[in-house]
Amino acid sequence: MSHAESHPSPLRIADAEVAAWLQREDRRQSNTLTLIASENHCSAAVREASSSRITDKYAEGYPNRRYYGGCEIADGIEELARQRAMQLFAGAEDANVQPHSGTTANLSALLALAGPNGRIVGMALKAGGHLSHGHDKSHTGMVFQARQYGVDGTGRIDLDDVRKLVKEHQPKVLIAGGSSYCRNIDYAAFAAIAREVGALLLADIAHPAGLMAAGVVPGPIGIADVVTMTTHKTLRGPRGGMILAKKDLAKAINSSVFPGSQGGPLVQQIAAKAVAFGEALQPGFRGYQQRVKENAAMLAERLLSQGLDLVTGGTDNHIVLVDLRKTDVTGAQVEERALAAGLSVNKNAVPGDPRPPMVTSGLRLGTAAVTTRGFGRDQILAVADVIVGLVRGGDVDRYRTTVQGLCEAFPLP
Ligand SMILES: Cc1ncc(COP(=O)(O)O)c(C=O)c1O
Repeated sequence: MSHAESHPSPLRIADAEVAAWLQREDRRQSNTLTLIASENHCSAAVREASSSRITDKYAEGYPNRRYYGGCEIADGIEELARQRAMQLFAGAEDANVQPHSGTTANLSALLALAGPNGRIVGMALKAGGHLSHGHDKSHTGMVFQARQYGVDGTGRIDLDDVRKLVKEHQPKVLIAGGSSYCRNIDYAAFAAIAREVGALLLADIAHPAGLMAAGVVPGPIGIADVVTMTTHKTLRGPRGGMILAKKDLAKAINSSVFPGSQGGPLVQQIAAKAVAFGEALQPGFRGYQQRVKENAAMLAERLLSQGLDLVTGGTDNHIVLVDLRKTDVTGAQVEERALAAGLSVNKNAVPGDPRPPMVTSGLRLGTAAVTTRGFGRDQILAVADVIVGLVRGGDVDRYRTTVQGLCEAFPLP
């Protein structure tokens, strides 16, 4: 009998049904290799903070300026999270740790900077951008006058194209950043383009935030006017968002988050963000991010050498985007085969994709979560070979055995 079975938790006693679902999720994550680029495995310490009793506390407002009594502990936690965030992203002048998610962070920042009906320019979803950068199904595409830039034939941002669109549309905000963009972004060039029309630059670093905090890829701090991010991807924190802003914009950003677009902050998530930032300030974090990047480079190299095409021919960060157009399978088909083999990956449009979004001709892979499990060269090469085999229609059961062996040898933290 395991410890968990002999000492049932309050949840198991109170609600066996939900407890069973959550236990299944534990097992699913243990027995699956997560290659979804936007996911990671946060520490037990982060999870403990995230499930703490302070979830009960209402703390509308900001430290020392709350609308409720009894907020002194929430104040201490939020201030700690803010200070750690600014230490982690050295040079950041102000940090708002309240956004519930990356989307809320973007919506709040855009409303503060462009105002309702303001003009914005961002990267198109199908080119690697994010819904919240002005896609027409997102409120950012409805509330703002949004135009979107794409990528060139090789999958890279074409700065001349960005400049042309910016000159034409005269936005108040130019957005740099994406969800499946695997190359470094020249933020200085983006800032120069924004300045040409008097626009502000918003850098959304949701994906590479951890790599940037560790200094293993160049980031936009000190260049962009506002930086938004999620805390749960490479940064390896709890689910949530954050906004860093230049001092003169901080007030507008803060009012736009609360009361503009959110009510009471999720203090338990802010506590968990503080824990994650504390972890990221430890010396080991840089080594982890370095390995995330090296593992992605090795994955890319192996897939290329085995004959698969990659968008841009490689990667600068944790993302590898496989272009399946020359194969006889779709992104959706490989995603399904991969799941059967125990690999969690996602289908993803490639630039110029002829297939619809629920099918696609691409596969987005990321190395943050498997690197957290401890993967290095040998394991990455093994996973690359499984992916190649899945694309070529190999025996899924055999791959499932390989993946299960890796899951057992490299348990979740
Ligand atoms: C670049 C970018 N921005 C924003 C978001 C939105 O984050 P959330 O899912 O927390 O709303 C994502 C999520 O994948 C993202 O990749």
